[in-house]
Amino acid sequence: MPILRAGAFEVFSNSPEQTRRLGIQLGGLLQKGDLVCLEGELGSGKTTLVQGITAGWGSATHATSPTFVLVNVYRRPDGAQLSHLDAYRLQNSREAEALDIDLYLEQGPLVVEWAQKIEAALPPERMWLKLFWVEDERRRIEVSPQGKQYEAMVSAFQEAVYGLV
Ligand SMILES: Nc1ncnc2c1ncn2[C@@H]1O[C@H](COP(=O)(O)OP(=O)(O)OP(=O)(O)O)[C@@H](O)[C@H]1O
Ligand SMILES: [Mg+2]
Repeated sequence: MPILRAGAFEVFSNSPEQTRRLGIQLGGLLQKGDLVCLEGELGSGKTTLVQGITAGWGSATHATSPTFVLVNVYRRPDGAQLSHLDAYRLQNSREAEALDIDLYLEQGPLVVEWAQKIEAALPPERMWLKLFWVEDERRRIEVSPQGKQYEAMVSAFQEAVYGLV
């Protein structure tokens, strides 16, 4: 059992569908300005989680991996937007400076895949999720708040998750 930071928790998923349901719970908590960072090796389930996040947040469009366009923007019928950035093709934080991260956050929540690649270009306050491949269909997800304002969101997410798995 790893030692987690204060306020952090971990959850296991036994299927892609379960990971999507975890994302739905998280997506329902997200507001304008919220930053969610995803770290995890290839195939660990980041995009699958994002599919749940966009659905839970209220987008009518199915999330896909934005590998070629870097950023996908999802909209809700009320005009709100959620941005999904995949930093896989970026080499470092400097390359991310060309992206207006603050503007995405002013317009809605922002979810970043491969966030560790551009960590220095991201605001220091954020929710950080680390996904680990365990077995074929099993993943472990560590969820930590970074910054005081994310502690409440992480505990709300934890409560929602405990009702699920
Ligand atoms: N419990 C699980 N949670 C999420 N995905 C799972 C799970 N079990 C199996 N899978 C499979 O693992 C793959 C995860 O792919 P996904 O695109 O979500 O990963 P990713 O972390 O975004 O990868 P990449 O780094 O290439 O962007 C999918 O094929 C999915 O069906
Ligand atoms: Mg992906």
